[in-house]
Amino acid sequence: MNILILGSGGREHALAWAVMQNPKCDKLIVAPGNAGIAQIADCASFDIDNGTAVVNFVEENAIDFVIIGPEAPLANGVADRLRDAGVLVFGPSEAAARLEASKSFTKEICDAANAPTAAYGHFTDADAAKAHIRKNGAPIVVKADGLAAGKGVIVAMDEATALEAIDDMFGGAFGGAGAEVVIEEFMEGEEASFFILCDGKTALPVGTAQDHKRVGEGDTGPNTGGMGAYSPAPVLTDDIAQKALDQIVQPTIDEMAKRGTPYQGVLYVGLMIKDGQPRLVEYNVRFGDPECQVLMMRLGAQALDLLQAAAEERLADTQVNWGDDHAITVVMAANGYPGSYEKGTVIKGLGDIPQDSKNMVFHAGTTAKDGMITATGGRVLNVTARGSSLKDARDRAYAMVDQIDWPEGFYRSDIGWRAL
Ligand code: AMP
Ligand code: GLY
Repeated sequence: MNILILGSGGREHALAWAVMQNPKCDKLIVAPGNAGIAQIADCASFDIDNGTAVVNFVEENAIDFVIIGPEAPLANGVADRLRDAGVLVFGPSEAAARLEASKSFTKEICDAANAPTAAYGHFTDADAAKAHIRKNGAPIVVKADGLAAGKGVIVAMDEATALEAIDDMFGGAFGGAGAEVVIEEFMEGEEASFFILCDGKTALPVGTAQDHKRVGEGDTGPNTGGMGAYSPAPVLTDDIAQKALDQIVQPTIDEMAKRGTPYQGVLYVGLMIKDGQPRLVEYNVRFGDPECQVLMMRLGAQALDLLQAAAEERLADTQVNWGDDHAITVVMAANGYPGSYEKGTVIKGLGDIPQDSKNMVFHAGTTAKDGMITATGGRVLNVTARGSSLKDARDRAYAMVDQIDWPEGFYRSDIGWRAL
């Protein structure tokens, strides 16, 4: 089977690494890829957000299966163009990708599906939004409706911050994404993510994870795309996971099918858990990054069979072979991230690290230059290990981090603290 993966992050390196272990894979191309991906697969360069460009590449290169990593091509309808061209694809249609691309759409689906989530109001007018905030008081959560690269959510602990967020959003701080806002009840509890493969009808869980969004030790400081993650998430017990499936996930899938926009791909279910009850925080229509890295470490070669079964609508007859194992990933980022940072700094020591089914350094923002690996992004490396316990996995991940010589980078030394 000839496979194309779209994307260039640590998520796509992890997907590529898992796919390459499956003997079914004859040839793998990743577009655009990165320096780490280039060590295990061919990389190609074209506009992955443009459906016509993707279909042309697929036809020219006899690709049998396309796996779409990030949300932008999905929200742009790239999966639809591929399906129209008769190409097997993993990833939701543009209409189903609205579960991530529009917060108000997700709330409307939750209403129709009777899925537990925060109470909310949806506003297209700043004055009405402010009146809602004054009436309900703080803490309260203000969200830009559309895709805002993870920056469109303000958890306001006081009313003034919430009102200011409304001015920012209607003032164009998030472009088109802020022309509509959702204002939500503040939910207390512990967050965890649940990853579900869907084929339009059936939901197949492929793992739980927790990430560390804040840049600083002890979960402090500004938000980032994620500074580390681990799987499984102990807070998502079997009982709570079953409740999430029965009360949130399956009703959502049924509602999407009923509307003629069946959901196919991975559903990333962000949950808030309190007193044994899960409530939906958000959906994403792709694997989390860096959560995908720990999921792929645990799934290994079977990941390709699972993604293919989702694309071929065979999940009802598909099982996951679970290992009783734990995985953790530590993100190494460029000094200054999530603010401004230097590009082009040299990373040394990577060649000395053994890479196998239990230890992997996945690359995110890297480029190969003059025979050296250089950092070209904010989040640069995802140092990932699998072990019989979370502590074992963590110790080995940090042992690898210690071998990496990159003075212009930093990492958090407490990934997994909550679970440990
Ligand atoms: P989202 O992009 O919707 O996941 O929001 C980003 C983060 O904001 C979440 O991971 C939560 O930590 C927080 N958040 C979002 N909605 C709520 C809510 N209703 N109550 C409390 N925290 C929230
Ligand atoms: N790590 C959070 C995300 O991928 O959205």
